[in-house]
Amino acid sequence: MIKINKLEIENVKRVKAVKIEPSSAGLTVLGGKNRQGKTSVLDAIAWGLGGNKYRPSQAEREGSVVPPYLHIVLSNGLIVERKGKNSDLKVIDPNGQKGGQQLLDSFVEELAIDLPKFMNSTSKEKANILLRIIGVGDKLHELEVKDQELYNRRHAIGQIADQKAKFAKEQLYYPDAPKEPISASELIRQQQEILARNGENQRKRQRLAQIEAAYASQLEEIKRLTDLLNQARDKYSQLTDDLQIARMDAIDLRDESTAELETNIQHVDEINRKVRANLDKDKAETDANEYRVQYEALSAEIAVIRQQKTALLTNANLPLPGLSVEQGELIYNGQKWDNMSGSDQLIVATSIVRRLKPECGFILLDKLEQMDLATLNEFGQWLEQEGLQAIATRVSTGEECSVIISDGYVVGEEKVTLQQPSGEIDAGPTWKAGEF
Ligand SMILES: Nc1ncnc2c1ncn2[C@@H]1O[C@H](COP(=O)(O)OP(=O)(O)O)[C@@H](O)[C@H]1O
Ligand SMILES: [Mg+2]
Repeated sequence: MIKINKLEIENVKRVKAVKIEPSSAGLTVLGGKNRQGKTSVLDAIAWGLGGNKYRPSQAEREGSVVPPYLHIVLSNGLIVERKGKNSDLKVIDPNGQKGGQQLLDSFVEELAIDLPKFMNSTSKEKANILLRIIGVGDKLHELEVKDQELYNRRHAIGQIADQKAKFAKEQLYYPDAPKEPISASELIRQQQEILARNGENQRKRQRLAQIEAAYASQLEEIKRLTDLLNQARDKYSQLTDDLQIARMDAIDLRDESTAELETNIQHVDEINRKVRANLDKDKAETDANEYRVQYEALSAEIAVIRQQKTALLTNANLPLPGLSVEQGELIYNGQKWDNMSGSDQLIVATSIVRRLKPECGFILLDKLEQMDLATLNEFGQWLEQEGLQAIATRVSTGEECSVIISDGYVVGEEKVTLQQPSGEIDAGPTWKAGEF
C-alpha cells in the first residue's frame, strides 16, 4: 500500500508554509482554529495527487510573492512536485525516471482524496459501489429485478382476488331459484299442447249439442210423419245409444289449468336474473380462491428470492461488518445513510473507498470535529488495524491533534520557506530562512 511519507506545501490557498510527516498508519490530525489553513492543506494534497481537475480556483495564496509550491514524498519512493509560474506537475521515481498524472492515477483513488464526492453521492450510487467492490453487483441486481417483478405480479393478483371476493360477498343469493336459466318457449309449447287438447274437448261438446238438436228434431218428425215412424224410431233408438256414449264421454272431460304456466312465462326474466346472479356469485367465489392460491405461490417465490439475496451478501467479503444493501440502498447496522451518525458515515465511506484501489493506502478526511474523542480514538484504532493512513482536519487544539495549523503555519515549526530556487530536486531539502 502506498502512503504519504512527507508533505511540503507553500502558498497554496491559506497555507503559508507547512511541512508534515504523517504517521504511516492511523490518524494524523491537523488541528487548529477556524480559517487557519487546515482544509487548504488537504486541498493542496488533492491537487498534487489528483491532477489539474483538483486545482483550487484560487490556488496561489493572496499576498504571496512566489507561486505555490507542493512537494509530496510517497512510500513507493515517488516524488510529486508542483512549482513554478504554471505549477507544472513533476513525478519522479526512485531511479530518476519521470512520470506524469497517469502514473499517479494508477494508484491514487479519486474518492480517497475527494471523500465528499462519495459522501454526497446518492444512496443508490453508494450501494452500487459497495456491490461492485464485493463482486455481487450483477447477481444482486438480477435478484432485485426478479423480486420486484414477482412483487408487482403478486400485488396485481392480490387486488383481483380482493375484488372478486368483495363482489362475491355483495352479490345477493336466491335459494329458491332453479340451478339453470329456464326457457319461455318450452313453457309456451306445453301451454299450446294443453290448449290443443282443450280444443278437442270443445269439438266433442259441439258434437253433443248437434246430436241433441237432431234428437229433438226427430221427435218432431215422429209426431209429424207417422209414415216415417218406424224409420224414425230406428233412428231414434240409434240416437239413444249415441247419446248415451256421448254423455258417458262427457262425464270424464276435465279442462287443465294454464294459470301456473302463464305466471311462470310472465316471471321468466325475473327468475333468470336470479339464476344468473347465483351463477355469478359462485364464479366469483371460485375465482377469488384461485387468485388467493396464486398469491400464496408468489409469496413463497418471493421469500426464496429474498433468501438468496441475503445469502449473497452474507457470503460476500464485506469491507466492514454490518454493511449491507437493501432495496438498492446502503445499510450499516440496520441504518440507512441519512440515519447514520456523522462518524458512522465517515467509517462506512472510508472502509468502502479503501477497497476501490487497494494500493492506495491513504485517505483525506475533512471536518473530523463531528467525532467525539472516544469515537475518534476508536476510528484511529480501526485505521491502524487496517494499515490505512488518514490525514484529517479537526477544529480543535487538543491533545488528539498531531499538529496545529495557525495562520498558515504549523505551530512550533520554524516559520521558514522550503521552496528550492531551481526546478531540480536534490537528495535533501535546502532550508532557507523565511522573511515572515
Ligand atoms: N488563495 C487564498 N489566499 C488567501 N486566503 C485564502 C485563499 N483561499 C481561501 N482563503 C481563506 O482561507 C480561509 C479558509 O481556509 P481553510 O484552509 O479552509 O481553513 P480551515 O480549514 O482551517 O478552517 C478563509 O478565510 C478563506 O478566505
Ligand atoms: Mg476546514
